[in-house]
Amino acid sequence: MIYLADTANIDELKQLFNYFPIEGVTTNPTIIAMEKKPMSVIMPELVELVGDKMLHVQMISSKAEDMLREAIAYKEKFALGDNYFAKIPVTMEGYKAMPMIKKQGINVTATAIFTQQQALVAARAGADWVAPYVNRLDNISSHGIEVVGNIVENIKQFGLKTGVLAASFKTVDQVHRVSMMGSQAATISFEILERLRSHPMTDMSVEWFEKDAEGLYDIDF
Ligand code: G3P
Repeated sequence: MIYLADTANIDELKQLFNYFPIEGVTTNPTIIAMEKKPMSVIMPELVELVGDKMLHVQMISSKAEDMLREAIAYKEKFALGDNYFAKIPVTMEGYKAMPMIKKQGINVTATAIFTQQQALVAARAGADWVAPYVNRLDNISSHGIEVVGNIVENIKQFGLKTGVLAASFKTVDQVHRVSMMGSQAATISFEILERLRSHPMTDMSVEWFEKDAEGLYDIDF
């Protein structure tokens, strides 16, 4: 499973790109709203930071034709390449837009997925990634991990090329369990990424090693 950062916060992303092996960034209108900056300001910052890693940008139009125009506009305005993914919600118009956008040579990430069938339809419509919302499912007494597992299994069974990009996490355990389900990718907030990579026992062990090494490690470097 590869990791993506589900944030548009530039400080968080700078930190992550410095040490965490993240493969890209995902955004949506809620994430953008948290930064209190318009897309015209935030997009150039994101494009510079992500470099050749993936950048998933959500379309806000409700009609398929407008989603297509929007997807093309981002590509052209910000000179985006193969690492750009137009995020399309799995509405009726969204499903219609997916093959249209693919036909223009733009990658598609189907988003706001809550069922295995929505993911399968999106995969059939040509989506490169499908993004099921794990925590939002858990919060409505459903089972996010199970839905991710079903999608992973179906995609494998039917030999589809679509990848599963699990999204919406509030705990490290949810991340752990989607990786055990074989999800190819997960997009995760800065806070949860920090929690999953760190452990107090690691910090303590390093402290002990440093103490024990005192005066013994005399090789110059
Ligand atoms: O990538 C989708 C994600 O941002 C939704 O997460 O935490 O708002 O449920 P959340």
